Amino acid sequence: MIKLLLSTLAAAAALGAAAPSHAASGAELLKSQCVACHAVTKPAEASVERLLQRKGPDLYYAGSKFNRDWLTAWLQQPTVLRPGGAMFLNAVKPGEAGSADVVDAAKVTPHPKLNAADAAAAADALMALTTPDLVAKGAFKGDPVNASMASLLFNKLRGCASCHSAKPGAGGGSGPELFSAGDRLQPDYVVEYIRNPQKFDPHVWMPRLDLTDADVQKLSGYINTLKQGGAK
Ligand code: HEC
Ligand code: HEC
Repeated sequence: MIKLLLSTLAAAAALGAAAPSHAASGAELLKSQCVACHAVTKPAEASVERLLQRKGPDLYYAGSKFNRDWLTAWLQQPTVLRPGGAMFLNAVKPGEAGSADVVDAAKVTPHPKLNAADAAAAADALMALTTPDLVAKGAFKGDPVNASMASLLFNKLRGCASCHSAKPGAGGGSGPELFSAGDRLQPDYVVEYIRNPQKFDPHVWMPRLDLTDADVQKLSGYINTLKQGGAK
């Protein structure tokens, strides 16, 4: 144990001044406060049962997925990302006659909150969990997007809005909200996820849509522009 600690410290020291100062304690924090609900290493067996029983989304590719600033802020002030996600099924109750089911906020356990120092340490440890095999650098080409065309694709032609919300209060809630996606997610991750959701989990219930690469780029460009408050 002590040997392990010393080698971790030596490794951190070897990284020099540029290394995040909290990396070691951040990893400890993940281990003691987060792994009960989140996978921080790739699960050995990706079964449907695991997907249904997991208590929180997988974080083993967090460093290839999130923007660090968003993580640091969210861990101190968590918001609901998947209002109708499978993790909250026991909190869903029927809506008024003729309208969609709603989530009973009283039954949703709020996400643990971290103080600023712990949030920074956890964010550093999460950003170290990169998976270049899942998310290739440069996947997002950054071509200019025609916002109204892309919004039409998202909302009407491709049905993304049946599971995702591009604007608070609009769209579906079974997938993560995307109205803060531009703050939250790395553009390359957005491309790779839309292209092949099952690469991230073979059983995840977002369908692999038959999209051209041009449409994937357009949709990603649109999603990347959605910041706090979403589509106009
Ligand atoms: C009791 C279970 C639980 C614990 C403990 C927990 N989380 Fe979570 N976490 C969740 C759930 C559930 C969500 C999904 C929230 C949502 O979609 O609204 C989540 C979401 C997240 C997200 C966003 C992930 C995504 O893909 O959208 C991050 C980042 C995160 N948690 C980090 C942490 C860290 C760091 C810790 C430890 C300090 C932690 N969590 C502890 C249950 C937990
Ligand atoms: C049947 C519902 C469904 C449809 C339709 C759907 N998605 Fe998803 N999507 C999901 C689910 C479920 C997840 C992720 C599960 C999780 O991590 O909790 C997801 C994840 C994503 C993510 C990653 C977000 C994150 O926070 O990790 C992006 C980006 C995304 N979808 C974009 C799209 C786009 C663009 C379309 C239309 C072309 C689309 N989705 C259609 C259900 C759907």
